[in-house]
Amino acid sequence: MKATVIGNGNIGRVHRAVLQELGHTVVVCDTDQGRRQGGYADWREMLAAEGPDVVHVCTPHYLHADMVAGCLAAGVHVLCEKPLCICRADIARILEAERHAAGMLGVCLQNRFNPSSQAAHAYLRGRHVVSAAAMHSWHRDAAYYATAGWRGKWETEGGGVLINQALHTVDLMQWLAGMPHTVSAQVGQLALGGAIETEDTAALRMCGDALCTLYATTGGGDDFPPVLLFRTKEGDRVELLPDALHVNGEQVPLAAAPAARAKPCYGGSHRLLIEEFYRCIAAGERFPIGGEEGAKSVRIVLAAYESRGKEVLP
Ligand SMILES: NC(=O)c1ccc[n+]([C@@H]2O[C@H](COP(=O)([O-])OP(=O)(O)OC[C@H]3O[C@@H](n4cnc5c(N)ncnc54)[C@H](O)[C@@H]3O)[C@@H](O)[C@H]2O)c1
Repeated sequence: MKATVIGNGNIGRVHRAVLQELGHTVVVCDTDQGRRQGGYADWREMLAAEGPDVVHVCTPHYLHADMVAGCLAAGVHVLCEKPLCICRADIARILEAERHAAGMLGVCLQNRFNPSSQAAHAYLRGRHVVSAAAMHSWHRDAAYYATAGWRGKWETEGGGVLINQALHTVDLMQWLAGMPHTVSAQVGQLALGGAIETEDTAALRMCGDALCTLYATTGGGDDFPPVLLFRTKEGDRVELLPDALHVNGEQVPLAAAPAARAKPCYGGSHRLLIEEFYRCIAAGERFPIGGEEGAKSVRIVLAAYESRGKEVLP
């Protein structure tokens, strides 16, 4: 298939490498001449000139909604990097575009494809999660935020640790414990005061069928593997890590995972997710993380930003 990648930065390069490995033709679009590699500067021009089968949206957060809605309207399949978008109006706009689209929308929440996440999902299906807790502690300093002008700003990143780094952990929590009915949160800066506008630390309480709590920070000393703990009504204790799953104290054997590409904290599951997206297109099947699924973690994070300690509907 002919694929195009819009945004050839940190993660666009990972998409491109996977696509080449899978034997697809890849055309690049980037406003930065040095990253464009002979491709296009303007994504609309690229769409018209190339007529791709699939577009991968790997640009800064504030650009996702226009690009996703525009590419869906042009009839192509779209795989969008997380977060799907950064405001409620854009969620509605994207879901509307998806409803009328000939192509399929997928959202790149690749940690659902980690063998440990898949095994946790299979184990918890049919059981009742009553409580969950998660910790996501990574290290991002002022130098990291200086690498690209869109980072650390409400208008362009749409938030800080919650909408970016910890979004995967928020998503795994709701995928495994259920979508909360209300969210309350404390969100602020503990580590990076002055270097960014957005939050570097957040504590969330999510009430639904399960009571879930989550602590997220980019003020940690290292990129620790995010950990999620679940308790079920049936008495299980499930402990999920990116590369391991323990159920009631026993390590669960897992399928082999692909090697991590680029930063180890991205994990290796981009390949698994992209392969599955293309398999679904070829087979005419629904990809499991479409617009509504991809919007869930964004809805939770936006509720957390609105909360200021009060209960908010996601
Ligand atoms: N799934 C993951 O694990 C993961 C990991 C890292 C980043 N991401 C996501 O990927 C996206 C990009 O992040 P990044 O770290 O690669 O950012 P980046 O800044 O490294 O790359 C973004 C690229 O987009 C280009 N760009 C900006 N405006 C453009 C436009 N109008 N048209 C075409 N290109 C344009 C920039 O020149 C840059 O090359 C974000 O949504 C981020 O959250 C996901």
